[in-house]
Amino acid sequence: MKQQLFGKKVAITGASSGIGRATAIRMAKEGADVALIARNRERLEEVASLVRAEGRKAVIIEADVTDAESVKKAVAAAIEGLGGLDVFHCNAGIYLRCPAKDLRIDQIRKIMEVDYFGCLNCVYAVLPYFLEKKSGAIVTTCSMDGKKGVPPDAAYVSAKFAMNGFFQVLRQELRGTGIHVGIIYPSRMDTPQIEHVDCPKITPKGNPDSVAKAVVKSVVKKKKEIMVPSFSCHLLTWADAISPSLSDWLVRVNNIAGTENGKEPINEAK
Ligand SMILES: NC(=O)c1ccc[n+]([C@@H]2O[C@H](COP(=O)([O-])OP(=O)(O)OC[C@H]3O[C@@H](n4cnc5c(N)ncnc54)[C@H](OP(=O)(O)O)[C@@H]3O)[C@@H](O)[C@H]2O)c1
Repeated sequence: MKQQLFGKKVAITGASSGIGRATAIRMAKEGADVALIARNRERLEEVASLVRAEGRKAVIIEADVTDAESVKKAVAAAIEGLGGLDVFHCNAGIYLRCPAKDLRIDQIRKIMEVDYFGCLNCVYAVLPYFLEKKSGAIVTTCSMDGKKGVPPDAAYVSAKFAMNGFFQVLRQELRGTGIHVGIIYPSRMDTPQIEHVDCPKITPKGNPDSVAKAVVKSVVKKKKEIMVPSFSCHLLTWADAISPSLSDWLVRVNNIAGTENGKEPINEAK
């Protein structure tokens, strides 16, 4: 089968786990070399070995997305290590499940710091390079939580709505520059981030590779926005456009929020 990204150079944040890990492997299968960015070196080594097993180059870069200087160095290391850069996937993120009335402001700030400003640190680190070469793709893993607020995710929803708004504007402002901006809106995916949440049968957790495929599609076909899975996500946004009461009702009767299963949450804003 034809590799859709043969010879391309891709950097991914949050590449040590879940969707970022799946995207790294998918990119390698599509013929791309990959710079893997996250904090946990051990897990990055494991992903790197899977990328190399596909015959592609993997560069490991330890960085915290909340640290703008560390992100700038990571982008420079990716460009140097891969010999250039064509795609940047802003994907690193954390989740917090807590009713709005019980949230503390510092918890909301922490989520914004990682999920929103962490993503912006990446955009501002890579944008000058893409503007200079008049090409490149920036794709972000947003969330359906950035389209329709689902309880009890107020902190996370805030960050994803902010990200959605920023990327929609960025996309329009970069029109004609040769830079593609793509936004991916996954529904619940089966990754460590939501291991502590069980989802109802009607909206089961998806395979993170379905998001990875959407990232590839966004880059190859210059798709501006992709919801995963397409049908149920479109249904919810259409319902929301018709009436917020209708989409609230769909969220409620289908228990889209899911149920805590007693497992210890990881990556949460403490
Ligand atoms: N799973 C879902 O249902 C779902 C749905 C919609 C959207 N998303 C979004 O998809 C993205 C990936 O989530 P996931 O489900 O794959 O979660 P995950 O398995 O927990 O992976 C999260 C990744 O983010 C990295 N990360 C966290 N904080 C970081 C920081 N400060 N600096 C650098 N890297 C950091 C982690 O790496 P280290 O710990 O090694 O740094 C890890 O690689 C997130 O933006 C998430 O919000 C997930």
